[in-house]
Amino acid sequence: MDKVYSNDSSFFGEEPSNFALICYEEFIKYRVKRLLELVCGQGRDTIFFATNGLVVHAIDSSKVAIENIYQKIIEKKISLNLKHFQARQDLPFDNSYFDEVYSLMFYNMSFTDEELKSLFTESSRVLKNNGLLYFSVRSDNDVLYNKGKRIDRNIYETNGFQIRFFTKTQIKSFLSNYFEIKKIMESYEEPVSLYLVFCFKK
Ligand SMILES: C[S@@+](CC[C@H](N)C(=O)[O-])C[C@H]1O[C@@H](n2cnc3c(N)ncnc32)[C@H](O)[C@@H]1O
Repeated sequence: MDKVYSNDSSFFGEEPSNFALICYEEFIKYRVKRLLELVCGQGRDTIFFATNGLVVHAIDSSKVAIENIYQKIIEKKISLNLKHFQARQDLPFDNSYFDEVYSLMFYNMSFTDEELKSLFTESSRVLKNNGLLYFSVRSDNDVLYNKGKRIDRNIYETNGFQIRFFTKTQIKSFLSNYFEIKKIMESYEEPVSLYLVFCFKK
């Protein structure tokens, strides 16, 4: 992504995502203070959360994206804790540190089943008891589901990007050890179909 981000400092736009707006309403209700965002990109949601009073930590594997965010907040009186980090390994945070772990289309990247289980385990580890895990993933209603080159069970490659598509049953199965699901909503954000998943640590 470094090359893409170098050519455009707001590749996904400046406005917060629809999912971030929905989640923020819930964060107020549940008095979320300290939030971890997994793969923040150039910070459209990261900056929105921090501007609205949350203490935000965020990781992304792109150094350029992180530099873009620091440039954007120079004028704003907010602070952010950003880490350049490749999330296939343990997360670089203490146990029970966060009220919320948030991500937009993170878990649907081309992780193996084992990596994915480990990432959900890690997400649980860094959350406080009853902490919230809110995330969106590409769904089995997506137009690209079952299209392109099949890489693995539920992982398909189109235009060089490998994406995992989830059924609701698979989401429930991955989460069952550590999380209780409050709700799963369906959302279409052109051109992708998503499941929006709201759960908390058991
Ligand atoms: C589709 S973008 C989404 C960015 C952001 N969530 C948004 O919606 O604006 C995916 C991001 O994941 C980052 N990324 C991909 N694989 C990663 C990994 N294993 N660990 C950390 N970041 C990763 C990329 O650098 C990119 O910024």
